[in-house]
Amino acid sequence: MFSPSSCSTGLPAASPRWSPANSGTEAVEAAIKVARAATGRPRVLYGEHAFHGLTLGALSLNGNAEFRDGFGPLLPGCQPVPFGDTEALAAQLERGDVAALVLEPFRARA
Ligand SMILES: Cc1ncc(COP(=O)(O)O)c(C=O)c1O
Repeated sequence: MFSPSSCSTGLPAASPRWSPANSGTEAVEAAIKVARAATGRPRVLYGEHAFHGLTLGALSLNGNAEFRDGFGPLLPGCQPVPFGDTEALAAQLERGDVAALVLEPFRARA
């Protein structure tokens, strides 16, 4: 994890509310880790046809097989929900084991 004391850039020190990142996929990796660590829950939900980057964690939240194929097994506990289907989302959240729902408003392959 990022150490606030290692930051000598003049930028504000990292806090539990934000984490610096150089790329979109790196930010998603950090989000997965923070969500799991903060909640103690394993599962991460994402929207169908989502694109969040190509590192292994972000790829686990990728809703299109052409990006994922050949790189498995990906992270366990990652599950798509239909974009905009609030009933399906509520059913997943009611299980009580969801660390995060990862959504980006721009869907690359919708
Ligand atoms: C919607 C979306 N999320 C995440 C990413 C990943 O960002 P990066 O390429 O900076 O890792 C992209 C890249 O195209 C994207 O379009």
